[in-house]
Amino acid sequence: MGSKKGENGMKGASKAARSDQFFAEVQSEIKELEQSEPVRSGESSQRQLDTMMRKVEKLEMLTDITKALNSTLNLNEVLEKIIDSTIQLSDTDRGFLMLADERGALEFKIARDREKRPLDKEEFTISFSIVNEVAVRGESLFISDILEDSRFKNQKSVLDLQLKRALCVPLTLEKSVIGVIYADSNRLSPAFATGDISIISAFASQAAIAIENAKLHGNLVLSQETLALENQKLRLELSGKYEFSGIIGRSKPMQEIFLTIQKIAHLSTTVLIQGETGTGKELIARAVHFNGTRKGAPLVTINCGAMPKELLESELFGHKKGSFTGAANDKAGLFEAASGGTIFLDEIGEMPLELQVKLLRVLQEGTIRRIGENFDRKVDVRVIAATNRELDEDVKAGVFRRDLYYRLCVIPITIPPLRMRREDILPLTEHFLGKYEARMNKEGIEISSEAMKLLLMNPWPGNVRELENSIERSLALCGDSRLLTPVHFPHLIPESGLLDQLDQSKSLKEKLHSVERQIIVETLEKTNGRITRAAELLEVTRQHLHNKIKKYKITLH
Ligand SMILES: Nc1ncnc2c1ncn2[C@@H]1O[C@H](COP(=O)(O)OP(=O)(O)OP(=O)(O)O)[C@@H](O)[C@H]1O
Ligand SMILES: [Mg+2]
Repeated sequence: MGSKKGENGMKGASKAARSDQFFAEVQSEIKELEQSEPVRSGESSQRQLDTMMRKVEKLEMLTDITKALNSTLNLNEVLEKIIDSTIQLSDTDRGFLMLADERGALEFKIARDREKRPLDKEEFTISFSIVNEVAVRGESLFISDILEDSRFKNQKSVLDLQLKRALCVPLTLEKSVIGVIYADSNRLSPAFATGDISIISAFASQAAIAIENAKLHGNLVLSQETLALENQKLRLELSGKYEFSGIIGRSKPMQEIFLTIQKIAHLSTTVLIQGETGTGKELIARAVHFNGTRKGAPLVTINCGAMPKELLESELFGHKKGSFTGAANDKAGLFEAASGGTIFLDEIGEMPLELQVKLLRVLQEGTIRRIGENFDRKVDVRVIAATNRELDEDVKAGVFRRDLYYRLCVIPITIPPLRMRREDILPLTEHFLGKYEARMNKEGIEISSEAMKLLLMNPWPGNVRELENSIERSLALCGDSRLLTPVHFPHLIPESGLLDQLDQSKSLKEKLHSVERQIIVETLEKTNGRITRAAELLEVTRQHLHNKIKKYKITLH
């Protein structure tokens, strides 16, 4: 079959009017066909009647499809509906869609099969030549028998996939091509009829309008969101307090975390908070819960590293009376207790592998099963997990399930250690001074610049918790003094020189070995015993570090 010009019989009218006019036209055509008096005898009259009925059906289908298309403003949903509808209207098996970018170049957007399963772009090698031709000419192409078409019949993919029919229609808006729909089938029948072609072309002009509307809507939402966040950021800066929900943070990463919390607090999406010990993971989990719509419902916290597997399972999911020794009564688990609210799974990295599978099920299905029961219960709980381990390394080492890691990581929040955001030390110090002054009935306490220097330079392996403890201790130690000096922070004063620490009687070689050993021990402590990470920090190979660990008889914990 030859090519047919892409129809757009509604040029010039406003979009809404074009849409209404389209429905009116379709409705009146259906009416006309229904009311027309068919001749009830003879084979050709029967065929005429069948053709008419098919057209009525297709027009009705088209009306429903176009209404469905206009029912969403989500661009992805619109594109999916366009592909599914094209396949349905043309009775083909696969479809794909490309949209023009700002420079007019066509970009692959989506491909699906008849069962609405997504397909890869690579599966459409034949189609790109057709697509380009259609986009350049702005004209539709309906090929009822590819093997008869000299342009395509010898293409490898036509032969591989045994393609028989294909159609390709431009998505035209105000005379410019904004995209292209393509569909094909390896079935020869039903051949494209003239009626089908005009219906699909009419559908394509509606599809172009729907795409444009969804794009405009998407841009609007995006700019509203950006505006709201910018406002929030400005307010935060103007207030000069660098505080959000009891969390202090002036550094860029903390400011970004505040914005993330505001963006995601009202959602139910899973959050994974990662950071060294004492960086404020629990504080952030609480902020996510209490700034969202779930704040009226419980926030339930459990430490997954604090109990044996059996107990943890029963705590999380509950159990049936008699399901194990000691199960004296039916008991609901914490997932049920947190209903409508949030469960905070602290130290998720410590969760045994068998329980990880069960947690994955909860996240995927939204159901739990009490131990000993044989049916599932629906739960509506937001999951926030936290860990001070490097979970991606645990995944590589096979001690944490990869699928669970990805499922938890929908919204990752990584809190940098305090030594990587030293701008936060001063506001945190002020905050904790205020907090403990109030607790200890003191006021007007100041901190000397020498003491402040110590605080700013300390590496803080225990992060904010360690800083908080230091301030509390210094206030307790300072008696009536109103000024905190280095004397009040004795544990922060650097130890005496390196030489003093080393055994003077030993040779230079032994002294060097002793220092090397100490550096390796400290680095391994920092990385929780992970050799790969320690080797990275020390900029040596893993093998080299291994040999040293063996040589110095360092035990790993
Ligand atoms: N940015 C912050 N602003 C104010 N207080 C903070 C901040 N970060 C941490 N803290 C305080 O530090 C202490 C430790 O915080 P938190 O318990 O949330 O840390 P964590 O990351 O959960 O530690 P762990 O891994 O050891 O459980 C708490 O008293 C908390 O209030
Ligand atoms: Mg914690």
